[in-house]
Amino acid sequence: MSNTKQFNIGLIGAGIVGGGVVKNLTRNADLIADRLGIRLNLKWVCDKDDAKLKDLPVPATVLNRDAMAVIQDPEVHCVIELVGGTGFAKTVILEALARRKVVVTANKALLAHDGEEIFAAAAKNQTNIFYEASVCGGIPIIKALREGFVANRFPVIYGIVNGTCNYILTRMTNEGKAFAEILAEAQKLGYAEADPGLDVDGGDSAHKATILASIAHGFWTGYENTYVEGIRHISPMDIQIARELGYRIKLLAIIKEAEAVEVRVHPTLVPVTHVLANVNGVFNACAVRGDVVGETMFYGRGAGADATSSAVIADLADAALNLKFGSPQRVPGFVSHRLHPRLRTIDEVESRYYLRLTVEDRSGVIAKVSQILGNADISISSVLQREAPESSQIGTVPLIMMLHTAKDKIVREAVAEIDRLPVTKAKTVVIRVENFD
Ligand code: HSE
Repeated sequence: MSNTKQFNIGLIGAGIVGGGVVKNLTRNADLIADRLGIRLNLKWVCDKDDAKLKDLPVPATVLNRDAMAVIQDPEVHCVIELVGGTGFAKTVILEALARRKVVVTANKALLAHDGEEIFAAAAKNQTNIFYEASVCGGIPIIKALREGFVANRFPVIYGIVNGTCNYILTRMTNEGKAFAEILAEAQKLGYAEADPGLDVDGGDSAHKATILASIAHGFWTGYENTYVEGIRHISPMDIQIARELGYRIKLLAIIKEAEAVEVRVHPTLVPVTHVLANVNGVFNACAVRGDVVGETMFYGRGAGADATSSAVIADLADAALNLKFGSPQRVPGFVSHRLHPRLRTIDEVESRYYLRLTVEDRSGVIAKVSQILGNADISISSVLQREAPESSQIGTVPLIMMLHTAKDKIVREAVAEIDRLPVTKAKTVVIRVENFD
């Protein structure tokens, strides 16, 4: 055991999460020191923007505007990267690792894209990188997968990992309003970014799914191999029909392993009786099935200064204990497994499906559609046709079909054929369905 009494930290990036780390590390410094037997010492807080450093509860001598000076300080044991993005943040991380500093980051985008390179740099320099805050904010899901469930393989992981999408879908469900209207209101209230693309088009969830898949299965599955669909096309009508059928629509990250690993993010019909259907508002949740532990469930805030800084500080604690016990890999950031299952593409994925066709209201239509599905060996589990609204001039009706399990590619090809029928008057809406069996 080392005699080191304090763990020196250089924090780079004093934005919302950085500010939360400073506040909460300062507030609970004695408690954390008692628990760990080593003090987490914020030696530097660095940002190039003076305004961000202005009101922090630390002495002025701790404030710094020069990131490289912080990284080069030989007394700094650990660099926290909270710059964000995939540019300068990557430089910060690689420079810190090259100096054998431990790195703590919340940067999901960078890890999802460049995790393999970054972890190779950490291994080469015999140091470590921690990233609990990168997925589901304050929920310790990475620690659970890495340590708490070390005895398990993970056949299935489901996550609601983006608070913005969950907030929008929850309000659309409760209020029956359209996506664009709720998004505009969410932006006004500060629940959605001015540029919401990364959230609502599913990219942020895909970053997190890629990280979870990689930890669970011991190889970097690659962001480019994560299938992603966002929530812009979800309509109040689909939410309402799903409700009548006993489902809620959620943006799910789904990671399954059975001979191959599939990693996907898309809107999903979730049975209303499942816990995930009842995770509402900005909350995140993960349902993990381990082959040893069985079903488990995690729930909490996935964003915000306090929740995210809780995760950052937990990583600092692990890193400090590594130092205290002279064991830099006591808690490894990422471990490559001996067996790398192959990746399953979206074409090969099997799922159940909800289809909402928009078709002419006349005889023979269902027969034509059924024939296309039958020819593709796709089995229909239920059909629901709505009467045409009286106001409808063009005589089209929504025709809802729930399908039994089928291959994604086959379903997409069949839907393309349905959409080419003269009786089909709008693009068919396709939403995957999970029954959690
Ligand atoms: N923008 C994310 C969300 C939080 O809405 O959940 C940061 O990952």
